[in-house]
Amino acid sequence: PTPGWSIAADVVVVGSGVAGLTTALRCEAAGLRTVVVTKAHLDDGSTRWAQGGIAAALGEGDTPEQHLDDTLVAGAGLCDEEAVRILVTEGPDAVRRLIDTGAHFDESSEGLLELAREGGHHRRRIAHAGGDATGAEISRALVEAVRARGLRTIENALVLDLLTDADGRTAGVSLHVMGEGQHDGVGAVHAPAVVLATGGMGQVFSATTNPSVSTGDGVALALRAGAEVSDLEFVQFHPTVLFLGADAEGQQPLVSEAVRGEGAHLVDADGVRFMVGQHELAELAPRDIVAKGIMRRMQEQDAEHMFLDARHFGADMWEHRFPTILAACRAHGIDPVTDPIPIAPAAHYASGGVRTDSRGRTTVPGLYACGEVACTGVHGANRLASNSLLEGLVYAERIAADIGATGAQDGLHARVPEPVEHPRTPAHPLLAPEARFAIQRIMTDGAGVLRSADSLAQAADQLQRLHTEARDALAENGKTSEPGVDTWEATNLLYVARVLVAAALLREETRGCHWREDHAERDETTWRRHIVVRLNPDRT
Ligand code: SIN
Repeated sequence: PTPGWSIAADVVVVGSGVAGLTTALRCEAAGLRTVVVTKAHLDDGSTRWAQGGIAAALGEGDTPEQHLDDTLVAGAGLCDEEAVRILVTEGPDAVRRLIDTGAHFDESSEGLLELAREGGHHRRRIAHAGGDATGAEISRALVEAVRARGLRTIENALVLDLLTDADGRTAGVSLHVMGEGQHDGVGAVHAPAVVLATGGMGQVFSATTNPSVSTGDGVALALRAGAEVSDLEFVQFHPTVLFLGADAEGQQPLVSEAVRGEGAHLVDADGVRFMVGQHELAELAPRDIVAKGIMRRMQEQDAEHMFLDARHFGADMWEHRFPTILAACRAHGIDPVTDPIPIAPAAHYASGGVRTDSRGRTTVPGLYACGEVACTGVHGANRLASNSLLEGLVYAERIAADIGATGAQDGLHARVPEPVEHPRTPAHPLLAPEARFAIQRIMTDGAGVLRSADSLAQAADQLQRLHTEARDALAENGKTSEPGVDTWEATNLLYVARVLVAAALLREETRGCHWREDHAERDETTWRRHIVVRLNPDRT
């Protein structure tokens, strides 16, 4: 597509969750001309759905060092310790600045932050809002701040590709804007700095806690741009997602870890607490261990789900501490006050993503990545619960500082972005919208919680077939799907699915949230390392 309109800025931030809006606010405060573009509305990303909260060493007696230890253990040997140290030491102040921006967290009667516990944390260190509506409150506060500061935002803007100048430096992004707004159709924001904050890729699986917009757009764009992507095989499956049937598709209601943090029990079909004895923290073991415990017991009992039993909380506690979850369960005919909640693991979080350094810089000059789309090294093979909002906050501030510093050095403020003749037309065909469901089924069957060489090889073949059919149709009769959100999303899902499966096939071990049935052990000799992928931008 050739751009029909273009605007210029110092920074374009793609995405509007905690990572994107924090980056944008800090860039604007540093005097950078900042534009936020987002695929749907400003509050439509994953941040709004976060329940449990934001982890930081804010409580009495807690220290960044203890938070570091828990994060490294959860990450199963693949965290970048320096990246984690930055996260846990800069985290508490970043949360305080979020509060200054206008986010209200739950407090005790003495006016202290109420802190909860979640899997893998040895102490209470999760700040929360509205009981279990933390993401919604953070999103509200940041969207309000962005509006109050008058930041330029473009909604309904699907990012297509990175624009680069003759030296391979970032020069902006091409976009397809659909629906209302002053910019309609394909256009471009020209800027020497682009921050990808597009969130995750949970929609690559049939059942996920992620909203429908989480289609891996940022990782797909980065792959097409030749940036390095790392650790895609580490998809975290949240252990306790409300079970709505084996064939449930799309976004499923989460039942926060914080429910277990307050003492809920995981029980099997016979009412037995099966996590006791499997790990010193039982139901509060790191997420991968709990998900595996659930899957194992499901296999043993030939059951489609297990149960989370929190009837002992009583109606009062449910209503005050977990109103969102209570309402979601009741909307589906389950009353957690009187019934155990049917749960099963579902895709939740991409621990990998676009590889960055400690300032959020990717391997393409001028391209940054922040939040779930990024792989900063803080999560390793398995993210610690409630570290994701924190990562978005901390690294957003570092990115804004880096762009500000680089801008001062390079005279960014004065530089008119170089005109780009045409955005690179995608050298690949666009898939039909229905391909999304085919990809989700292939991935769920072949690359879900339990993986093996056979299941992954089959998934790789099926994905390759989808790609070849679409490519041949374009080559043979010039046919490709009409550009639109559905077709771009399906195409992006295929990009990330293929790389994810290739990485999962390669990693012949079980580590963190990557569980190979045919390689059940962790292999410290061969696999204490990362799988980094970079596509040749000229090949399809
Ligand atoms: C939850 O509330 O269980 C989700 C927290 C997270 O994914 O970090």
